[in-house]
Amino acid sequence: MRILLTGGCGFIGSSFVRMALARGYSVTNLDKLTYAGNPANVAEVADLPGYRFVHADIADPEAVAGALEGVDVVVNMAAESHVDRSILDPTAFPLTDVVGTAVLLDCSRRAGVARFVQVSTDEVYGSIPVGAFRETDPLAPSSPYSASKAGGDLQALAWHRTYGMDVVVTRGSNTYGPRQYPEKLIPLFVTNALDGESLPVYGDGQQVRDWIHVDDHCSGILAALEHGTAGEVYNVGGGNERTNLEITERILELTGRDASLIRQVADRPGHDRRYALATEKLRAVGWAPEVAFPQGLSETVGWFRANREWWEPIKSGAYRAYYEAQYGRRSAGGSPA
Ligand code: NAD
Ligand code: TYD
Repeated sequence: MRILLTGGCGFIGSSFVRMALARGYSVTNLDKLTYAGNPANVAEVADLPGYRFVHADIADPEAVAGALEGVDVVVNMAAESHVDRSILDPTAFPLTDVVGTAVLLDCSRRAGVARFVQVSTDEVYGSIPVGAFRETDPLAPSSPYSASKAGGDLQALAWHRTYGMDVVVTRGSNTYGPRQYPEKLIPLFVTNALDGESLPVYGDGQQVRDWIHVDDHCSGILAALEHGTAGEVYNVGGGNERTNLEITERILELTGRDASLIRQVADRPGHDRRYALATEKLRAVGWAPEVAFPQGLSETVGWFRANREWWEPIKSGAYRAYYEAQYGRRSAGGSPA
């Protein structure tokens, strides 16, 4: 069976490529190679016979139609994926996450693919003070990122209702692991701590996220692809809630640094306080997360320690300008909106 995976040069996509190939799928990886797309992430599989790379935008119908030849199922991971970037410059987000998803859905419908998996996020539900979101809960996204992802998610479900297309949506929680672009909390703080640079904690640091290892997120997406029911949504959560300060302290321990690196900075505008997911629905088809967080985080820190040649070039050039725009005003007490 051949999967058309989009966004396979990114963080979760590149792990998914390796897992799908190991399970015997062939994979066509369609990626635009934005700042977050890195061919090095898939270098070790590039020459395998089951793997093919297409450099294209999911919003380009001709390129997508060509890439769909011989494809059985589609997994759409391509996205602009970072909340803080969406606050600085929201316009790129609907172009890929909404319009691109619509183009990909429609080309896939015309090509008659057997299943389309839309990889969405728990952030589409918004914040929850107690309890956990179920798949039937209403969507209330807070950021330009999560609003765009909600648009893609709802379109996928609409393509099922309107055209009878076989669509499954996954909503994953905060993901961590090797090869994550160093703009999100864990890889940013790990690489800053390794370099002895400060860790910018937003507001009081008591926000809660449900962390899942990238391999568990990928096995959840594969479980939904293989065992999900058409038209249904599946939460993919780690069941591992931590405050941002807890994560920060653990990273300081694992990198041998102390709390003097913590810098409390202005909070993110519209910051969701807590995310939590009920995952019984996906567990009922046989999936469960396997990586214990203390071990997963320790191995992730070990990966960043051993792979400076992966992240040092990323953290120069255009990244520095982004970092200044994002954190310069914050540290002076103002929000970057
Ligand atoms: P990422 O930013 O690391 O990678 C995104 C990839 O998509 C990159 O390779 C990029 O080049 C590619 N891309 C972007 N726009 C494209 C376009 N128009 N056409 C083709 N390719 C394009 O993202 P990630 O963290 O790996 O997230 C992957 C997916 O999982 C996203 O859809 C994201 O919303 C979702 N998700 C992520 C998390 C998380 O914590 N990282 C949690 C839940 C869901
Ligand atoms: P992030 O990794 O951006 O994921 P998301 O916004 O999708 O949950 O952020 C995780 C949490 O960490 C979130 O509450 C914001 C916080 N955070 C900081 O405190 N400082 C930072 O520099 C970053 C990037 C995030």
